[in-house]
Amino acid sequence: MSSPTLKVGIVGLGRLGQRHAINLAQRVPNAKVVAACSPVPAELDWAASTLGIATGYADYDALLAHPGLDAVFLVTPTSLHADQIIAALRAGKHVFCEKPLSLDLADCLKVEAEAARHPQLTIMIGFVRRFDASYHDAQQKIAQGLIGKPYLVRSQTCDQNDPSGAFMRFAPTSGGIFLDCSVHDIDLARWLLGNPVPKRVYASGTNAIHTGLQAFGDVDNGLATVEFSDGSMASFMASRTMAHGHETLTEVFGTGGRLAVGSNPRLNRVEISDAHGVRNECTPDFYARFADAFLIEAQEFTDAALGRRTLSLTLHDATEATRIGLAMTQAMREARPVEF
Ligand code: NAI
Repeated sequence: MSSPTLKVGIVGLGRLGQRHAINLAQRVPNAKVVAACSPVPAELDWAASTLGIATGYADYDALLAHPGLDAVFLVTPTSLHADQIIAALRAGKHVFCEKPLSLDLADCLKVEAEAARHPQLTIMIGFVRRFDASYHDAQQKIAQGLIGKPYLVRSQTCDQNDPSGAFMRFAPTSGGIFLDCSVHDIDLARWLLGNPVPKRVYASGTNAIHTGLQAFGDVDNGLATVEFSDGSMASFMASRTMAHGHETLTEVFGTGGRLAVGSNPRLNRVEISDAHGVRNECTPDFYARFADAFLIEAQEFTDAALGRRTLSLTLHDATEATRIGLAMTQAMREARPVEF
């Protein structure tokens, strides 16, 4: 008997959508991409010619009506996530959706309410770092008590500077650096600290290079501190101006020790000794750092939708990440602490 297959529609074939499409089509054994959806004809052509996805839809509702479709993989602009998730659930489809769930807390809660009406459907928001082998190991070690009681997470997402400023096209809709980048660190902090309840947030930021971000109330470097009601804390940095590459670093301090993931953001194990000293090359971008995790994420979503595993990551975790990210953004813009 052949093993069951999840028939997936990929929605959004931009910067990240193409990566997900390649993984689903070529590297997730129990998934089959049966259709693609994008308003851009060239992207549908790419899916057909590169991956053999013959059926393309410009219209999302038409994709949802594709015969036999089991699940959608949403890699669309964040502003579309909530409505697209709700439409998929109402059409009886399992849903994977990229982070963040939404930039609007009321929309997050609407999605949670709709999901509660469809308990048989799997829904996963793509907090990819939870599927990274090193973060997974760190979380297991903390749960086993290796560092005692964890009380402080210090975590950063720092992107290499793009002198062309191409990322500026996302500035009007990204929600700002905390919701776009730190949302990953927020999710990690909650996970590694055992889901504490946020109490108060402080935040500030600066524009070191990309001063045009100011027009959108955004910064190219941001700092935030979150206090939780159980006394634990988290401190976040996000940057778009690193000279050396992409650096994601997380430290967890416990009463009996400290764990760090990513202290050396090296590209690989090659060590170069030359006139500059002894050094490694750095991961250039988030995908180089988390490529394996993106694949594991897609495999785990597929297995969960096929009923072969349960997910530890919940929709409520995604709501909480948005809630904390919004408070950080407000604290920075209003230059004052924000209470929950
Ligand atoms: P992008 O702008 O490169 O791609 C967006 C895609 O959505 C394009 O293919 C566009 O044609 C398509 N699209 C637009 N309107 C649509 C509609 N109505 N129906 C169907 N498709 C539509 O954006 P990118 O960078 O790929 O980001 C997409 C999402 O992925 C965002 O939510 C972003 O936050 C998230 N993301 C997550 C990352 C992670 O580390 N997990 C990293 C980068 C992005």
